[in-house]
Amino acid sequence: MKFVNQLPDYVLANREYWDGVAHEWVAMGERAWTIPEPNGWGVWNFPASELNLMPEDMTGMRAIELGCGTAYVAAWMARKGADVVGIDNSEKQLETARRLASQHGIDLELIHGNAEDVPYPDESFDFAISEYGAAIWADPYKWIPEAHRLLKPGGELSFLGHHPFLMVCGERFGEGLVKRELLHPYFELHRANWQDEYDKSVEFNLPISRWMELFDETGFDVLAFHELQNPDPEAEDRFGVDPAWSHNFPSEQAWRLRKR
Ligand SMILES: C[S@@+](CC[C@H](N)C(=O)[O-])C[C@H]1O[C@@H](n2cnc3c(N)ncnc32)[C@H](O)[C@@H]1O
Repeated sequence: MKFVNQLPDYVLANREYWDGVAHEWVAMGERAWTIPEPNGWGVWNFPASELNLMPEDMTGMRAIELGCGTAYVAAWMARKGADVVGIDNSEKQLETARRLASQHGIDLELIHGNAEDVPYPDESFDFAISEYGAAIWADPYKWIPEAHRLLKPGGELSFLGHHPFLMVCGERFGEGLVKRELLHPYFELHRANWQDEYDKSVEFNLPISRWMELFDETGFDVLAFHELQNPDPEAEDRFGVDPAWSHNFPSEQAWRLRKR
């Protein structure tokens, strides 16, 4: 049996952070739950048909969302026919997810826990996904091997999150302070403490070559890598990401991997 105090410090810090801000994500979750399937991904609503982050037909598949938040991605997979588990580190986020699942009559298994250590046997799933969940909040050296363990051979993992450039140029990401300056050493990217007295959350990222080495060492083949560009520099600021900046530099990355 695991005790909460055995969780890594950053998982506890992120739990406190997400329990504290969960109420700010309710409206967005409610909106996303009304969309029957993804038509766009990420901050700039990149066309889903170009990214293929999710199989078209998921009939009979076992799927897991790692860091499911309000679980609208999990709901999209269930509507495509999958049997879906969502794991999240925040009980408050899961409260919204459970309410929306019941309201929309969608059966999801939602569990409270750390996506780096999922209480399921090896090879339990055909497909795993993370949209800004484990993808940015969990340690890649833990959650990528864990996703690999959970997948059947040939199973796929898709994830979407911040691009390493954003981490290098972010003074205080989340508040729009992304600079046209290289503020943090690219080669040292791993754990990013954006901490101040209000925000103790911890994010993770890696240099692109390190992501690729990690995938290979873990036993994943890369099917696709996308660096997402905001098409419209005059767009409204969304999620604190400067539209002009993200027209010139990639603010988001998306990977599709297959377990060897
Ligand atoms: C921006 S939300 C993304 C989820 C979903 N796509 C959404 O927008 O509702 C980030 C979620 O990751 C969760 N999270 C952070 N660290 C986690 C971890 N180690 N394991 C599982 N979930 C985690 C947070 O609790 C939060 O609900």
